[in-house]
Amino acid sequence: MAELKLSESKDLTRIERIGAHSHIRGLGLDSTLEPRLTSEGLVGQLPARKAAGVILQMIKDGKIAGRGVLIAGQPGTGKTAIAMGLAKSLGHETPFAMLSGSEIFSLEMSKTEALMQAFRRAIGVRIKEEAEVIEGEVVEVQVDRPAVAGAASKTGKLTLKTTDMETVYDLGTKMIEALSKEKVQSGDVIAIDKASGKITKLGRSFSRSRDYDAVGPHTKFVQCPDGELQKRKEVVHCVTLHEIDVINSRTQGFLALFTGDTGEIRAEVREQIDTKVAEWREEGKAEIVPGVLFIDEVHMLDIECFSFLNRALENEMSPILVVATNRGHTRIRGTNYKSPHGIPIDLLDRLLIIATQPYSEEDIRKILEIRCQEEDVEMTEDAKVLLTKIAVETSLRYSINLINSSALACLKRKAKSVEMEDVSRVYQLFLDVKRSTQYLMEYQNQYMFNDVSGGDLNEDDNTAMLS
Ligand SMILES: Nc1ncnc2c1ncn2[C@@H]1O[C@H](COP(=O)(O)OP(=O)(O)O)[C@@H](O)[C@H]1O
Ligand SMILES: [Mg+2]
Repeated sequence: MAELKLSESKDLTRIERIGAHSHIRGLGLDSTLEPRLTSEGLVGQLPARKAAGVILQMIKDGKIAGRGVLIAGQPGTGKTAIAMGLAKSLGHETPFAMLSGSEIFSLEMSKTEALMQAFRRAIGVRIKEEAEVIEGEVVEVQVDRPAVAGAASKTGKLTLKTTDMETVYDLGTKMIEALSKEKVQSGDVIAIDKASGKITKLGRSFSRSRDYDAVGPHTKFVQCPDGELQKRKEVVHCVTLHEIDVINSRTQGFLALFTGDTGEIRAEVREQIDTKVAEWREEGKAEIVPGVLFIDEVHMLDIECFSFLNRALENEMSPILVVATNRGHTRIRGTNYKSPHGIPIDLLDRLLIIATQPYSEEDIRKILEIRCQEEDVEMTEDAKVLLTKIAVETSLRYSINLINSSALACLKRKAKSVEMEDVSRVYQLFLDVKRSTQYLMEYQNQYMFNDVSGGDLNEDDNTAMLS
């Protein structure tokens, strides 16, 4: 491996759907890290959010590696929500890797390999490089019509200027496509990376600030560059160790990042990469940015995984580990021993514990209101009161699920906003856990594999904390 390849994959656009936590945009803290009552989509749960804020500051300072945090609490108390809030407040440069405890059980790779990959997804590398760039204001983009209709290769000319000079460049098909993808037009100030051909729009030239036709509300105006068109510039890439691993470990390279089909990565590839990164750090070319690794439902890990975590946390490049569980005193997977949260004491000892508390009726109401907005559902006050009552009686998750289905019921009536009757209709249509259990108790003989005794739903000894 003579040259390490870095990212080729940063041009992805993410499509956001409405998911369980899509209303959460941060931790909702003020500048002194005090949690606001309701902010950035999060409601209440103040002590836990404040604690998460302290962790956020630790991560931002980037000085401490290998700390661990456990978020513990009953189901539906916002453990995952708080972790997502933390992720959103980190900003783009700090990596946040997330997995659920059950995801490590795969036939493709060993459990510890899966964990290793997760760790390396949470460790960022900031690499500074000198690059040759062409930077100037676009005077004209001119694309020739192909002589033969349908001819594959297009040609054209691009005229760029600085305050001191003007040059005409010949364009090939690839550049023409890149220019049209970025919608480059005359008056834009652009930078072209000479090595990769990547085009970045820096803004519109001030001299064009009066052309109102091409100006949107977000247009940024910049000065026309001076001096030479070609210059050497320092550029900074942010990639994760995992991305470097994958790109360098297979012939198909970065495509594996999209398919997720990375397979096991050989230890020597990682060693070479670590050595190279260490070299760069000494030369001042690279910096390590420890991020966050969030493992949800951590009780699904077994004793081997826990021992791996213990050791991985001691590495100086280790990210901050955040784990969450709703389990109480229970068996550690892979052993016959019981331990608080199903986590061995020696690992537990390294973790700071944040506890989440059940919500008040008032908080639940606010969360439901936020979810209604997120799902774009209009609901009358009465219906909201009923939905809150249902949440208190059953669970927050169940009633969040009812929002969408009652909106459908409302649509069917051809009404505009969801009323009590819609909510109560779907409440009757879909059972919550309690009613479903009741039903099972009554009709147990008719089901397969039934050995319900005394209403205990929990699988063997993995008892949920309260619930
Ligand atoms: N404090 C909160 N503010 C806003 N939404 C919340 C809050 N707590 C939980 N939620 C939402 O309620 C639902 C259940 O919470 P979740 O975080 O999945 O619970 P847990 O992980 O503790 O079981 C999710 O949709 C979550 O986004
Ligand atoms: Mg959760």
